[in-house]
Amino acid sequence: MLLRDVRDDDLRIFFEQERDPIANLLAAYPARDLEAFMLHWRKKASGDTPCFIKTIMFDGCLAGSIECWANDGKWLLGYWIGREFWGKGIATAALREFLTYVKMRPLHAHVPSHNKASLRVLEKCGFTVSGQGSIFSEVHGHDVEEIHFTYHSEKSEFPAPKFFQEI
Ligand SMILES: CC(C)(COP(=O)(O)OP(=O)(O)OC[C@H]1O[C@@H](n2cnc3c(N)ncnc32)[C@H](O)[C@@H]1OP(=O)(O)O)[C@@H](O)C(=O)NCCC(=O)NCCS
Repeated sequence: MLLRDVRDDDLRIFFEQERDPIANLLAAYPARDLEAFMLHWRKKASGDTPCFIKTIMFDGCLAGSIECWANDGKWLLGYWIGREFWGKGIATAALREFLTYVKMRPLHAHVPSHNKASLRVLEKCGFTVSGQGSIFSEVHGHDVEEIHFTYHSEKSEFPAPKFFQEI
């Protein structure tokens, strides 16, 4: 597993990975059409929302992506692995490495309580539960419970960069 900077031709694969209905249910995150997907990426590239994102490579293949972005004064974490790569420890390895790149603390993650794999990934990487809530899920058509996680570390004295983006 290795993390590298995102290239333009990664976007088509991210788009396909995000359109997996099983993954959409797990993440409670809806698939977007190509136009909405590209608009989202152009916004990231514009720098309007500070973000830091890496492509996850496994055995020479693009396995997924991992990112954090600023939202309402908090740094939020997200990751997405293509289904054919699930269960190989890739998200765990990617997150461990990502935490050595990004210095922003604390990092926050909101995970649907039914997404046991993601809960486990965060737990293995040292995130702790900081709360819970519920949010309407377009994919499920009803509210889903989510668990809020936070990651603090010895690096917490590092200030968030003014603008920190690599895509
Ligand atoms: C969630 C996701 C990132 C996990 O990726 P992954 O590479 O398969 O995760 P890993 O292999 O590193 O670790 C998964 C862990 O969850 C465990 N796990 C998987 N399914 C589980 C289940 N149903 N119940 C309990 N544990 C489960 C695995 O056993 C493993 O733990 P272990 O190492 O202690 O055995 C991946 O399924 C994904 O991208 N899903 C779609 C997008 C998504 O949900 N993103 C996160 C949004 S919060």
